[in-house]
Amino acid sequence: MPRYAITTFGCQMNVHDSERLHDVLRGAGYVEADGPETADVVVLNTCSVREKAEQKLRSEVGRLAKEKRKRGEMVLVVAGCVAQQEGQQLLARMPAIDVVVGPDNIPELPGLLGEISLGGLPVVRTVFDVDAPRFLPARDDGAPRGATAFVTIMKGCDERCSFCIVPHTRGPERYRASGEIVAEIRSLVAAGVREVTLLGQTVNSYRDPSASLPVAPDASLDDPDESEFAALLFRIAAEVPELARLRYTSPHPRHVTPSLVRAHRELAVLPRHVHLPVQSGSDRMLKRMIRRYSRAEYVTRAAALQGAAQGLTLSTDIIVGFAGETEEDFDATLSLVREVGFRGLFGFKYSERPYTPARKLADDVPEDVKSERLARLFALSEALVGEHLAALVGTVQEVLVEGPSKTGEGLVSGRSSRNEIVHVRGTAGLEVVGERVDVAIVRANKHSLEGELTEASRQQSRTRAPRPRGRRALPLLVTE
Ligand code: 5AD
Repeated sequence: MPRYAITTFGCQMNVHDSERLHDVLRGAGYVEADGPETADVVVLNTCSVREKAEQKLRSEVGRLAKEKRKRGEMVLVVAGCVAQQEGQQLLARMPAIDVVVGPDNIPELPGLLGEISLGGLPVVRTVFDVDAPRFLPARDDGAPRGATAFVTIMKGCDERCSFCIVPHTRGPERYRASGEIVAEIRSLVAAGVREVTLLGQTVNSYRDPSASLPVAPDASLDDPDESEFAALLFRIAAEVPELARLRYTSPHPRHVTPSLVRAHRELAVLPRHVHLPVQSGSDRMLKRMIRRYSRAEYVTRAAALQGAAQGLTLSTDIIVGFAGETEEDFDATLSLVREVGFRGLFGFKYSERPYTPARKLADDVPEDVKSERLARLFALSEALVGEHLAALVGTVQEVLVEGPSKTGEGLVSGRSSRNEIVHVRGTAGLEVVGERVDVAIVRANKHSLEGELTEASRQQSRTRAPRPRGRRALPLLVTE
């Protein structure tokens, strides 16, 4: 049987697409290899959000091209956003590539590989499924699953943030019917999943194409920022009560409306953490970025979420050195980070991208200034995160255990409701994977917590029947 390997770059949406690539290939009779070196088909699922990610693709293709010359028989597939963005041009620039397949064409991959195996020429398939959008559910093969899973609820993006290539690589917004979403979550839960993360480029702009959701509490129908996302959350909570946690990523601040705040107030299944990308704290920059909210609007919405559930924390994405960013603009970003008190932050140097509106603006912040601002931003965020984690020492946190800890010390690890990574001691011989356990926090590391299973949780775990054990997560190499 032919063997395949998938390497994933980029965001959760890509991780999810890679899971579907696994499903599609396994369904067509391929088996997973230990790595690209022993695979007959190598898939690179690519990211183009920043130039660095694209460079990584180029060097990986270069490395694999050598391998291919050595072995002769390898088929090289480029999937994901670079595939969608560059299409045919990729073949011209990198002749080692055999197949270029866009995010909406994953189901067609086995057919394309079939053509190649019959001696066909390199192929490109990058067509958006705008007329009949497809959302591939996880393959229901009865096998037990890990504790966490992604479920796509929408794809594409109708925003036009000036720095962002995603509208180009992922196309216009398309939504999945709420009944289908609920059905997939139900079947995942039946297979052992405890936590689901709803995925979408602007996940909270969701609208039900089957028009079957009741209006959510506090939804204001004449507010253009209102969506049916809160209604979907209420429906999932009501129809899949066995689900332990329901996360979502990434929301757009514009659609953080009173109905979503209300959902956080009322639904215990929603964790006490939201990742809410802000990008900048300067109104001038927000305007240039076409984010469609002001700093004050962001702060109000962030505060509403923080007030909806006790201890709810926020994390964010920030771009430094965007076109025309002055020291004053950057100071505004630092002050926003302090004001909101983010407990997690991903920071990026602005990277000019093809097909984006910001190409009309000069990318005029020198590289060393970008680097220096990013370092200052990280120093601030590390201080905030450090303070936050230190304050949790001595508390008891509920942790959903996901699997063995990467610390390699025989511990297990999982996440708290607020998304902190927690390494748990004292679980030897106990069936805790996929369970929510109480953990007494004894230590704060730079980016994680360490703790001891409480006596009560230990007793409970002793009496619990073993659960079916799934793979923790797909063994993907996520390189960014
Ligand atoms: N340059 C730098 N960072 C970017 N992001 C998106 N586009 C760019 C770009 N051109 C960042 C944003 C986004 C995250 C996924 O990537 O912060 O939220």
